[in-house]
Amino acid sequence: MRIIFTDTYKKMSEEAAKIIAGQLWIKPDSVLGLATGSTPVELYQNLVWLYQTVGLDFSQATSFNLDEYVGLPADDPQSYHRFMHENLFDHVNIRKDHVFFPNGLASDPAREAEEYEAAIMAAGGIDMQLLGIGRNAHIGFNEPGESFTRTTHKVALKESTIEANARFFASAAEVPREAMSMGIGTIFRARHIVLLASGAEKAEAVRDAVKGAITPQVPASILQLHPSVTLIVDHEAGALLS
Ligand code: F6R
Repeated sequence: MRIIFTDTYKKMSEEAAKIIAGQLWIKPDSVLGLATGSTPVELYQNLVWLYQTVGLDFSQATSFNLDEYVGLPADDPQSYHRFMHENLFDHVNIRKDHVFFPNGLASDPAREAEEYEAAIMAAGGIDMQLLGIGRNAHIGFNEPGESFTRTTHKVALKESTIEANARFFASAAEVPREAMSMGIGTIFRARHIVLLASGAEKAEAVRDAVKGAITPQVPASILQLHPSVTLIVDHEAGALLS
């Protein structure tokens, strides 16, 4: 695992943008796996800036998002679909028929999961997967205890994750209790993984993921076995690594 230590969230975001932009520059038809949440917001702003200023080209790219809440329509203000459009897709030249999300409204979640996996395969697999990390070291919505080999599936959110995500909703009661998420098996098949972590509340998860035992109790710990992971931390998130 390559670790890039940065001082600030701003620097972390710039380093991450360079890596993703480099991937697109080398392979314009890259398949990107993308994440939502607070962590990648400024990274996406940097990608928009690179599109506007140096012509970073998304026209041949495809993206698959990690996850989506169950029960929220695509246009719900809190849906991950909406998040991605507001933060990135509406501001760059990615084709709207080249962006994919697991459908949180699917009447048959198992079938939806199979179709999402099949779509990723049909696109040629994920070239570069972007990840944030939960305070409990979850990746995607794969909570502690989840099997390392699982592919896309419906998950029940842990209370700690509901509380962490309540900041985006009027109250914790409004946070959906379930989501559709790529599994750790899906994530692990990506050719390159870029994991971002910012803030003191992520420091223990980062330490356990990077230096601790490889165990499903620490979902991100599986990344120690992946041949191409770049972890970018800011000063606070990386504080327990040395
Ligand atoms: C988001 C996702 C989650 C987040 C994680 C960190 O698509 O799958 O695993 O990356 O919960 O969230 P933030 O960045 O809000 O701290």
